[in-house]
Amino acid sequence: MAVIIRSTGVHIPERRLRNEELAALVDTTDEWIVSHTGIKARHLAADGSQTSDLAAEAARQALERAGIGAKELDLLVVATATPDYFGFPSTACIVQDKIGAYGSAAFDVVAGCTGFIYALDAASAMLEARKARHALVIGAETLSRIVDWQDRATCVLFGDGAGAAVLSRIEEPGRGIIASVLGAEGSGHKDLYLIQEERIASMERAAPLVPKIAMNGQNVYNFAVKTITVLVQRLLHSAAYRLEDFRWIVPHQANKRIVQAAAKRLGAPEDKFYLNMEEYANTSAASIPIALDEMDRKGLLKKGDLVMVVGFGAGLTYGAQAIRW
Ligand code: UT7
Repeated sequence: MAVIIRSTGVHIPERRLRNEELAALVDTTDEWIVSHTGIKARHLAADGSQTSDLAAEAARQALERAGIGAKELDLLVVATATPDYFGFPSTACIVQDKIGAYGSAAFDVVAGCTGFIYALDAASAMLEARKARHALVIGAETLSRIVDWQDRATCVLFGDGAGAAVLSRIEEPGRGIIASVLGAEGSGHKDLYLIQEERIASMERAAPLVPKIAMNGQNVYNFAVKTITVLVQRLLHSAAYRLEDFRWIVPHQANKRIVQAAAKRLGAPEDKFYLNMEEYANTSAASIPIALDEMDRKGLLKKGDLVMVVGFGAGLTYGAQAIRW
């Protein structure tokens, strides 16, 4: 028995904001952003478009490419830090309605930028435990709505988008998700958080609740470099593989420098890491499925390839999986 990623789908909003345009809004430059992050552009959701809209588009594509009808889904999981509603209902239920996946279980996962990895782990375990057949796992974000557009230290980093994957349980042992590592360091929860939460907790309800990302960039940077390095080593150890066995490592697309520093520590060639933050910036839970979809369409993922996905993010959370494509 195995749980494989059968197909992927993606939705990138049309509106593209280049670094040069951002430099007209805040005190920054294209040169600073590229040299500190590797990011050149990001895409922004259209006015009136919600996270569930982006997620539903990516979901439809993934289902079509899998040749599976929405009603065949047993499970629908959305990983997001920017749900349509605060608290409830889940964005997964709204997506279920939009794509007509009636009958499936539906819930959201909140694990910051590691959300897609947590969701993959949960969905594959549930497919196995419940002897179910198909799950849809989506990472979707409209981070532009919670970015403080006056804070140059954070607003240059993030973008909107969605990526989806259809998971199927099949009778081909050795394929699909073959190893997984998940964890969290909750002591770092204030290194990356939404200011809105603090205001709700203090009952300042009279003030307008404008959510904004607050981040200790240096702490998150150090955590990320350490985490990618340790996760790759742990996953290799748990699955008894060597780095050379992996065709690709697909990291959360936060910052090129983070990946370069981790690659150096691991003694791994940089081109083993697939990077596309240059075009999309950091789309949090959507970044890994967007990258997988892009790689698949470029023909970079061949059946039998060993691929590692590695994530880190708010929480602070982390996780990695080894996938036999
Ligand atoms: O999914 C996880 C999400 N979070 C992350 O991935 C963030 C991880 N952290 C980082 O990627 C980096 O810490 C940043 C890219 C956010 C910042 O890079 P840095 O090299 O750590 O810069 P810094 O915060 O140490 O700031 C260096 C200088 C400061 O100026 P002074 O004090 O040296 O004069 C900042 O004010 O760069 C300044 N600065 C900027 N300058 C131009 C900060 N942001 C900008 C900007 N444009 N956008």
